[in-house]
Amino acid sequence: MSGKPISVDDFEECAKKALAKAVYDYYRSGAEDQQSLRDNVAAFARWRLHPRMLRDVSSIDLSTSVLGQKISMPICVGATAMQRMAHSEGETATVRACRSLGTGMMLSSWATSSIEEVSEAAPDGLRWMQLYIYKDRKLTESLVQRAERAGYKGIFLTIDTPYLGRRFDDIRNRFQLPPHLRMKNFQTSDLAFASDKGYGEDSGLAVYVAKAIDPSIQWDDIEWLRGLTSLPIVVKGILRADDAREAVKRGVNGILVSNHGARQLDGVPATIDVLSEIVEAVEGKVEVLLDGGVRKGTDVLKALALGAKAVFIGRPILWGLAYQGEAGVHDVLQMLMEEFRLAMALAGCRSVNEIDRSLVRRDIASKI
Ligand SMILES: Cc1cc2nc3c(=O)[nH]c(=O)nc-3n(C[C@H](O)[C@H](O)[C@H](O)COP(=O)(O)O)c2cc1C
Repeated sequence: MSGKPISVDDFEECAKKALAKAVYDYYRSGAEDQQSLRDNVAAFARWRLHPRMLRDVSSIDLSTSVLGQKISMPICVGATAMQRMAHSEGETATVRACRSLGTGMMLSSWATSSIEEVSEAAPDGLRWMQLYIYKDRKLTESLVQRAERAGYKGIFLTIDTPYLGRRFDDIRNRFQLPPHLRMKNFQTSDLAFASDKGYGEDSGLAVYVAKAIDPSIQWDDIEWLRGLTSLPIVVKGILRADDAREAVKRGVNGILVSNHGARQLDGVPATIDVLSEIVEAVEGKVEVLLDGGVRKGTDVLKALALGAKAVFIGRPILWGLAYQGEAGVHDVLQMLMEEFRLAMALAGCRSVNEIDRSLVRRDIASKI
């Protein structure tokens, strides 16, 4: 690459140069053979766009809403853990970049900035809280209450991580946080994933999850969570129509179709390939969102055409953050925004309401 980064791949190249190997590996990796990791990206190319012509696209409105909150574009920032490994300002830089572009950020439970620090960094910025259910239910409850008090607008409950997926690089690197960092939402070294604890031969994070996260969670726990908060609840990690229907029955406000950036169960389908069956299953009763492999404006257009209300971006944000902190995240989001604007215009869509199912068809030539 020469000159300014102009694609997500360019940003990744810049980030790779800036990051320690174990950190880059942790951010980049998928589980096991990484079949689903490759497929999340490749699957978008198997959907073809069928644009409409001659529709006066001199003015394009990208704005929409998620869970009742207005956003400038249907591109939001997903939860990625431990962002201060990428840049000293970590999650506080990310939230400021999101606010400056008018979109929302989902904060990881495993952030290296606290719930409160992130809200102070962008008090009027739209923030949601990603939640893991800990074995210690009182602790889990306090995370929810802190998020609610700090002005977060929804809880994204991650349901695909009863144990951590096997990520070969992290096992080989014995991944743990650098000594100067901690998961800032927790007090004790054990829960803060502090490096002084020692995690043996495995991925430190896999050991942490096995010790702290509750693998016994089940559908009834959605009702438990409902009882704790009046915030909207979204389940993050749905991949099947029957689970989507069950989630609606249990009273969730949204479904995030996600395979955790292909970091959990390898061999699962690309998220874009299961989106329409999930959209059909929920019959418009709740919002359906998507993450996984979104790298271009045309990917966003395809996801919306298949019924997503908005998409969330994971790794590309980390690449921008590692490269240039807040300015880097801003530039990645702005690039995706401009790409999406152009994709809409070239497809004849003047507002997101004009994006419909007829715009995409599965490529009949592709075998997989
Ligand atoms: C480095 C990294 C850390 C992540 N940390 C979390 C997390 O703490 N909680 C969570 O629910 N999902 C986490 N995810 C999954 C993301 O929220 C999201 O599902 C995924 O990154 C989307 O795919 P993409 O990276 O291809 O955009 C993480 C993903 C990455 C790459």
